Amino acid sequence: MKLSITCTRELNNGNTIPLFGLGVYQARQGSECEQAVLSALEAGYRHIDTAAIYRNEESVGAAIKKSKVPRDEIFLTTKLWNSDHDDPEGALKASLKRLGLSYVDLYLIHWPVEKKRLHAWHILEKLYKKGLAKNIGVSNFTVRHLKDLMAKSNVVPAVNQVEFSPFLNQTDLLAFCEKEKIALEAYSPLTKGEKFKDKTLMTIAKKYGKTPAQILIRWCLQHDVIVIPKSVRKERILENADIFDFEISAPGMKTLDNLNEEYRTSWDPTDIP
Ligand SMILES: NC(=O)c1ccc[n+]([C@@H]2O[C@H](COP(=O)([O-])OP(=O)(O)OC[C@H]3O[C@@H](n4cnc5c(N)ncnc54)[C@H](OP(=O)(O)O)[C@@H]3O)[C@@H](O)[C@H]2O)c1
Repeated sequence: MKLSITCTRELNNGNTIPLFGLGVYQARQGSECEQAVLSALEAGYRHIDTAAIYRNEESVGAAIKKSKVPRDEIFLTTKLWNSDHDDPEGALKASLKRLGLSYVDLYLIHWPVEKKRLHAWHILEKLYKKGLAKNIGVSNFTVRHLKDLMAKSNVVPAVNQVEFSPFLNQTDLLAFCEKEKIALEAYSPLTKGEKFKDKTLMTIAKKYGKTPAQILIRWCLQHDVIVIPKSVRKERILENADIFDFEISAPGMKTLDNLNEEYRTSWDPTDIP
């Protein structure tokens, strides 16, 4: 399959999700976030990832409105924060109000909160049936959290959004998700810039005439993993999307796969009971 900025992958309910998008964690509410989303939509991005806890949903919604891109051409994700597991319906409605939208394309449980996540998921199932969320999924769930959820509910999460990069390649989780038809989505795919100076990564980037950031994003896509690099700078938003004119060779992918060192930039959910 030839990859492009708008190419999609099918979810387990028959809907589709653009494989490539923009993340807006730490994009400041106001002109910084709004301008980033506008730049991305102008550049052809059609998938935006925010969360209630990022406190920038108003700006994301304002940019979507300003962009004039039809709502049904944009895939918008937001997330249920940990302190809202008792009332996911109220939390989603508050997010929709801030976004100025009538539905989200994907609503995720942000973290697998102990003792509360199952109740939250059952409410998400209802929100999905009501159409307030076109798709529902989870984030930071390990295989154990997924198995537990799936054993006690009716809807299989469409997506699991987790930290994923050549330095944390999540082999077991990826295999499990593929088997269960849960699409894996990569957050912090650029390792927040912390691994840009890795020698192997730099060598591969040089070989293709690309930047380390571009190699990291392309590596996710070639694993059929959804990827949402964040930037608030127009030139980087463009750079991160300029990845559809080359392909990392099979040996190059193997070399990148071998960089795994369980390197995380965020909290590790493994020990959450
Ligand atoms: N579900 C979760 O728990 C969770 C956790 C973390 C993240 N996420 C989602 O995943 C998205 C991406 O992850 P992330 O924001 O943690 O990290 P990331 O995308 O790995 O890296 C973002 C950092 O890299 C910089 N950057 C971006 N493009 C660059 C380029 N081409 N060259 C050099 N530097 C570049 C950005 O700075 P500038 O903005 O200044 O360009 C920012 O500091 C988030 O925005 C969020 O939507 C979800």
